[in-house]
Amino acid sequence: MKKILLTGDRPTGKLHLGHYAGSLKNRVKMQDDYETFIMVADVQALTDNYDNPQKVRDNVFEVVADNLAVGIDPEKVTYFIQSQIPQIAELTVFFSNMVTVSELQRNPTVKTEIGQKGHLFKDGNVTFGFLGYPVSQTADISFLKAEVVPVGEDQMPVLEQANRILKKFNRYYGKTFPEIKGVVGEIARLAGLDGRKMSKSLGNAIYISDSEEEVAKKIRKAKTDSENKLYYDLEKKPEISNLMEYYKLATGKSFEEIEEEFKDITYYIEFKEKLTEELNNFLKPFRERRKKYEENPQLVWDILERGRKKVLERAEKNMAEIKERMKIDY
Ligand code: TRP
Repeated sequence: MKKILLTGDRPTGKLHLGHYAGSLKNRVKMQDDYETFIMVADVQALTDNYDNPQKVRDNVFEVVADNLAVGIDPEKVTYFIQSQIPQIAELTVFFSNMVTVSELQRNPTVKTEIGQKGHLFKDGNVTFGFLGYPVSQTADISFLKAEVVPVGEDQMPVLEQANRILKKFNRYYGKTFPEIKGVVGEIARLAGLDGRKMSKSLGNAIYISDSEEEVAKKIRKAKTDSENKLYYDLEKKPEISNLMEYYKLATGKSFEEIEEEFKDITYYIEFKEKLTEELNNFLKPFRERRKKYEENPQLVWDILERGRKKVLERAEKNMAEIKERMKIDY
């Protein structure tokens, strides 16, 4: 029997190349070797977007379309929406006994995110829901007894927390859940066009769904330096090194090969033009696949409905066992 792989995306915006490098690429690669589940984390998205439910609603389609676009095949993989599986919420409550408030407050991912969401959590005054999202994420993964979780590098502390929760649960109630293993992409962290973390909120992202013109415009405007010589040096030339990362992602070439290819250029523009072309070649099959779903969104909703039914059945079965272990199987 295949091991179970589960991962999720918060539906708060379209997915970009940072998501691709960190996680989506691994999902595509791993979908044949694992029984794969892709969850739309709408409940988690609401923990820091409770003031904007329409945004979360609108992006459910977008994140599923992006996963489909990169080639995560709905014939092999199960797609579902977090809020449609009540057992996840139930398990979150059970898991909340397995973690202290101060452990969550010390979690590096949670801490960073609270800092970034200053407008919601004034003076560090975080909601119960947001502070607890690693607990609910543990439930997302473990209600299906998933073992393999492709995520962006920033999520690793959340998965370490998950394992502490599972270990405690197994100790008190008997071995129920397998340990989980986070899998991070080869390019663990792809920076944005300005060298900071690629992020929707920073306006520095190239999206899976960007048009040829959008890509061309973004690359044309990308910052460089005044040397007009192409080599990889993240300290000295962060902007150029970063654009070289994009080139590497699009072509699969090494930095040495890229340096060799552009050793005779006079101006960076020559590199930028080629980069635009390669990025657009790379994104072309994604755009084509995505178009089918944009033209017929019902296809996406049908995939999610099929997933809901399948996952619900599994959730009921696993929950019966969990409750038995916890002696609440009346
Ligand atoms: N927190 C994850 C992120 O921001 C999204 C997520 C929610 C997730 N539930 C999950 C990832 C379960 C993996 C497994 O990227």
